Amino acid sequence: MGFQKGKIVEVEIIDLAFGGMGVAKPEGFPIFVERAFPGDRVMVKITKKKKNYAEARVLEMVEPSKVRQKAPCYYADYCGGCRWQALPYSEQLKYKKQHVIDSLEHIGLLKGVLVKDVIPSEEIFGFRNKMEFSCSNSRWLTSEELENPEIKKDFGLGLHVPGTFDKIIDIENCLIQPDIGNQILNHIRQYIKESGLQAYNLKTHEGFWRFVMLRSSSAFGTWMVNLVTNQENDQLLNPLADQLMAKFPQIASVVNNITARKASIATGEYEKVIAGDRCIKERLGEFIFEISANSFFQTNTKGAEALYSLVSKYSELSGKEYVIDLYSGTGTIPIWLSKDARQVIGIEIVESAVKDARRNAKFNNITNCEFHVGDIKDVLPSIVSGYSCDDVMVIDPPRVGMHKDVVAKVIELAPQRIVYVSCNPATLSRDLALMKSKYRVVEVQPVDMFPHTFHIESVALLKMA
Ligand SMILES: C[S@@+](CC[C@H](N)C(=O)[O-])C[C@H]1O[C@@H](n2cnc3c(N)ncnc32)[C@H](O)[C@@H]1O
Repeated sequence: MGFQKGKIVEVEIIDLAFGGMGVAKPEGFPIFVERAFPGDRVMVKITKKKKNYAEARVLEMVEPSKVRQKAPCYYADYCGGCRWQALPYSEQLKYKKQHVIDSLEHIGLLKGVLVKDVIPSEEIFGFRNKMEFSCSNSRWLTSEELENPEIKKDFGLGLHVPGTFDKIIDIENCLIQPDIGNQILNHIRQYIKESGLQAYNLKTHEGFWRFVMLRSSSAFGTWMVNLVTNQENDQLLNPLADQLMAKFPQIASVVNNITARKASIATGEYEKVIAGDRCIKERLGEFIFEISANSFFQTNTKGAEALYSLVSKYSELSGKEYVIDLYSGTGTIPIWLSKDARQVIGIEIVESAVKDARRNAKFNNITNCEFHVGDIKDVLPSIVSGYSCDDVMVIDPPRVGMHKDVVAKVIELAPQRIVYVSCNPATLSRDLALMKSKYRVVEVQPVDMFPHTFHIESVALLKMA
């Protein structure tokens, strides 16, 4: 039987693939089904057919899996944010661990690596300290909203529907951010609606309002509001900032990122502080960090503490070591390790993050951390030439993993231990495989920072083979 596009077929889901989709294998042919879980029997329609697999969407739930639970979030059936909410958390962790094992085996061809049980997230709701909501003039309506003629489709502030680049679900209550964030978001939504200016249109590239980014500090309970617009408009934004500061005393910072770039990225070409401070403060362990709007900071604060404790443990520092931290962001790992190392050198491409890192080190009275700005593939050779760097290297790259020239340079530098922190098991596996002639993987510890998604953070300890 062929599974050509448009065909309707009843299937049983037998697994969950990395990427989060359910997998059915009628007649041994893999079909990936969005929002379906192992044990579900579903009627699906094939939406894409390739030589070795097909993709499908659910038309009808014939019999739900016994493991399913009712998702707590109203938008869970549509939103691209939390696609696994209908799966109990213990099941999510089981699949996340399996995905790390599968990636190591199939992508890295690394068999028999010890992968430990996932360290769970301490909180599975209200844990996200940063949310980026998009503004769109094209609102996507839920089936309930479709029945209400009063709801207009010309404005939405929220998250994307997967598979659409411009359709936004208007989200009033996002359960993975602390609740006050929803109150702030709803105040801003009302202001935007009454502002007389349009939300950005991703097709015509017209419209003023682009993104609303909210950051919060779990230690101090303070908030940052970052309004991303396509041009300046102090007359409009200053009163909004005044209202927000008056209504929500938790807000410590309101900034405006301005970008006329076509790319749908919430980083401004430049930034203006409209009210309060440029940064907010967060505490990790015994250290305080200042975070600016565009700097990377782990989105699950308690998860970050678990992650960095593990980095400490794997680094096995005695106080004598030189540590190089590649992809150092706002300096969180160097500062976390500083008390146990002789010196920590961080390298990071985003200039504002390096400035934050230097300020953070100073603020915490740390004198043995040094931060360099630049693309690691270009600057690593000259930076390390002045150091003895055969002790420990910590590597925490973005999702795409390491550039192959960086992998080659790391092998040449030959640190005794490498602690590789990764948010993407696929690129982790690829990079570990590239290093396997020189380094053996002692163990991999997954840490869950992203409940209700297929994403999983992992920390791998590598020692010289
Ligand atoms: C996953 S984050 C890790 C940040 C930090 N270790 C932490 O835990 O907060 C990856 C960082 O790599 C930086 N980055 C991405 N590409 C880079 C490159 N080619 N050279 C240097 N830094 C880069 C990003 O700006 C980001 O801060």
